[in-house]
Amino acid sequence: MSFLRRLSFAAFAGVAVPALLVAQGRGGGEPPKNLQVLPKDMPRQQVTAIMNTFTAALGVRCEHCHVEGTTPAGGAPPGGGRGGPPLDFSADGKPQKAVAREMLKMVADINAKYLPTATNPAAGDRVTCETCHHGLTKPATLRGALAGAVAAKGADSAIALYRDLRTKYYGAAAYDFSEGSLASAANEVARANQRPAALALLKLNLEFYDKSALTYQTMAQLVLQGGDTAAAVDALKKASALQPNNPQVRQMLQRLGVNP
Ligand code: HEC
Ligand code: HEC
Repeated sequence: MSFLRRLSFAAFAGVAVPALLVAQGRGGGEPPKNLQVLPKDMPRQQVTAIMNTFTAALGVRCEHCHVEGTTPAGGAPPGGGRGGPPLDFSADGKPQKAVAREMLKMVADINAKYLPTATNPAAGDRVTCETCHHGLTKPATLRGALAGAVAAKGADSAIALYRDLRTKYYGAAAYDFSEGSLASAANEVARANQRPAALALLKLNLEFYDKSALTYQTMAQLVLQGGDTAAAVDALKKASALQPNNPQVRQMLQRLGVNP
């Protein structure tokens, strides 16, 4: 792991830390004593700055990875300002901390080996925890999450999951709730031979995007695959009313013998 020694702080976190903060010995408690991946002599302020990128990237608090302890006064900040019992940041009790160490190595490796010419971490041209995690403990896409829910427990469970995620994460980077997202999830579900579930997801999309020609168009494609021409024409007419000049919709209507 000798290449880790030579890596700058930015290689780990992809953030620029103000020089003031880096100055040794400014507040912040005892020097770290159990760094195994980060340079052993990294000042506590730098470690804490990296830790703050972890919590933001994963959407968690310090205790996701750190066990509670009885840190003496003047030691660790109580749970990173979370209130509650203090955390023992040096202890290795949680599996998440072990995973995070592997993740640190992986990120340093990606940046050093595969992105060696990336020079401007502040501009985002390095991989960071956030690149993959975007606010989630386990990186996921809406499409993947919904397709997984359909496969495991059916359409109703996927719809409930969508509503739940939308309530929690709308406006965050965590999941894509834009118009095309459920349509693409529906396509994936349809490819897995779950056409009724796919149609249920499209219906759900109309609840949020009632002027979505794309949704009606995707619906038409799916019901057509199921041999329901009348329903396809019906959906295409709705798409056409919303987007009269959509060439694909016109083409599909023509193919079904309807004058668009
Ligand atoms: C995603 C998991 C994760 C989260 C969340 C996290 N940490 Fe850490 N923390 C680690 C890992 C992993 C190490 C050890 C790094 C190493 O071995 O080089 C560490 C080490 C530390 C250390 C050095 C301890 C020592 O004595 O060696 C401090 C201090 C620390 N974390 C503080 C915090 C604070 C404060 C927060 C909340 C703002 C936080 N951590 C959130 C994973 C995490
Ligand atoms: C290249 C993409 C990628 C990057 C970059 C990445 N991770 Fe991960 N991480 C993953 C994936 C995928 C999983 C889920 C693995 C699984 O479910 O087994 C994961 C899982 C985790 C977990 C376990 C989640 C849990 O709570 O069970 C932790 C902790 C974690 N990552 C921390 C980090 C930290 C800290 C960083 C930055 C140093 C980071 N990851 C960077 C892809 C990434």
